[in-house]
Amino acid sequence: MLRTHTCGELKINNVDEAAELSGWVQRARNLGGMTFIDLRDRYGITQLVFDMEHHSDLCQKARKLGREYVIKIKGNVRERSSKNPKMPTGDIEILVEELQILNPSELPPFTIEDETDGGEELRMKYRYLDLRRNVNKHNLILRHRMSIETRNYLNKIGFIEIETPYLIKSTPEGARDFVVPSRMSPGEFYALPQSPQTFKQLLMISGYDKYFQIVKCFRDEDLRADRQPEFTQIDCEMSFVERDDVLNTFEGLTKDLFKVIKDVEVGDFPRMSYDEAIKYYGSDKPDIRFDMKFVELNDVAQGKGFKVFDDAELVVGINAEGCAGYTRKQLDKLTEFVKKPQIGAKGLVYVKYNEDGSFKSSVDKFFDQEALKTWAEKFNANPGDLMLILAGKANDTRSQLNELRLEMGNQLGLRNTKEFAPLWIVDFPLLEWDEDTGRYYAMHHPFTSPRDEDIELLETDPGKIRANAYDLVINGVEIGGGSIRIHNRDLQNRMFKALGFTDEEAQKQFGFLLKAFEFGAPPHGGIAFGFDRLVSLFGGQDSIRDFIAFPKNNAGRDVMIDSPSTISEEQLKELHLEVKKPVRE
Ligand code: AMO
Repeated sequence: MLRTHTCGELKINNVDEAAELSGWVQRARNLGGMTFIDLRDRYGITQLVFDMEHHSDLCQKARKLGREYVIKIKGNVRERSSKNPKMPTGDIEILVEELQILNPSELPPFTIEDETDGGEELRMKYRYLDLRRNVNKHNLILRHRMSIETRNYLNKIGFIEIETPYLIKSTPEGARDFVVPSRMSPGEFYALPQSPQTFKQLLMISGYDKYFQIVKCFRDEDLRADRQPEFTQIDCEMSFVERDDVLNTFEGLTKDLFKVIKDVEVGDFPRMSYDEAIKYYGSDKPDIRFDMKFVELNDVAQGKGFKVFDDAELVVGINAEGCAGYTRKQLDKLTEFVKKPQIGAKGLVYVKYNEDGSFKSSVDKFFDQEALKTWAEKFNANPGDLMLILAGKANDTRSQLNELRLEMGNQLGLRNTKEFAPLWIVDFPLLEWDEDTGRYYAMHHPFTSPRDEDIELLETDPGKIRANAYDLVINGVEIGGGSIRIHNRDLQNRMFKALGFTDEEAQKQFGFLLKAFEFGAPPHGGIAFGFDRLVSLFGGQDSIRDFIAFPKNNAGRDVMIDSPSTISEEQLKELHLEVKKPVRE
């Protein structure tokens, strides 16, 4: 070994010991006859001292070291005269006797410090340098600890990890596939899996009744803070289970992770139906760290001559406690917020419940104090509160109010990243109608089972069917989703019919699975957690990119390795592909 200790290891009880350390030069300072160097490795930083008086050659050599040089030293541990209580190794330093430069370094393009001067794009280009920084190191270590604990926990309760293939078959359902041309089968393509869904169901048919896999998935979709084109799932499937068995098992895993990784006890997860989530939060992933539930006002606000309300399908609002003191400017800002094109409301109505018990609203012309009082009662509002109301088409208005609710939650400091509020959303609709294509799509996927009591609606009123599907939501983030699957061939046929598939189409796309269902498929169901999302939630951040060692940028590019990129004419020919000149310079 090129070291006897790491740079995070030596403490006051090691004083007078000899030590050899290797690492990177974090920074150097010359003070009178001394040169101080902070030496860094994965484990921490240790201060080195070079003494001009005793070792002038060595000190001269040390003064020539640049940032990020890789060096090895030998010396003696001594107590520092001025200690640094902020550093774990801050009580000691090493008086260096020997210095070896293992490798010099170019000047890094940004500072390798907690607060760096490098912009995002530059840091992505030199990701290997960015990963030397503490924030990224802590994020990757957190990720590692969570994957180890997940494996241990699932192993302990009888799950086995089985790998499934990455070169599979493209199916038009779901997101867009990434495809891979086949050299040996001209004109044909593999697809990279969006998830191991069909394979895990096949494993159930094979009898592996508790499967899991921490697995890469690939989806060619537009990117956001919580979406990457390649991401990781904790993917799971179980046989001979009903919905609550799956929920209880994975509630157990989630609680264990909170306990072991964050030392946080989360109580039992509440369960909320999809309909309830939409009605009270305008979202199927409500952030229930704070209350501020929606209150519908149609019965008290309509028919009073205010056209915006009278013409609306839904009049709905929230009560922001203690916000009656909002100034004109603050209210204008909120109005601008809901009118942003991404949110799309036409305007915002406010009612201030003044401390003296009177009301001041933006619709005083249409509603007198008495009328506003009935609203306040609906909101359970108290003097000092501010009611914010939107109106319009029901679905649009609910999602606009969801955005406003989250914004108010932010403004009022109700979305503390150290607090965790998990819940299960259950009873999702089975199907979603798409206006553009004029057909139903499976909201989850085509193998999701309808709830038993709704099966009879498949041929009569498919839009009304609720699915045996569930999502795990924590702090407003969809962390995972799954369902009990259809294991009965007849029911699967009826489902495909409701989705507008002909028998031939169903056969062509899913024939292998349908065939497998004829050989004794057990009742089964499962779930997949978005692992990157779970880790970033534990890390207290929104962006999953910071928790992935080598992520893609917003345009789906890896700017470090410069990918995607062109390939040679020869490769193209081998793959039987003809490609137009790429658009990018
Ligand atoms: P679903 O499509 O809901 O279900 O995906 C499961 C979870 O994966 C995460 N996720 C993503 N994370 C980062 N980037 C993305 N692009 C991305 N897309 C999804 C989310 C999501 O909840 N096979 C089913 C699961 C099942 O039924 O068992 C599936 O993939 O956190």
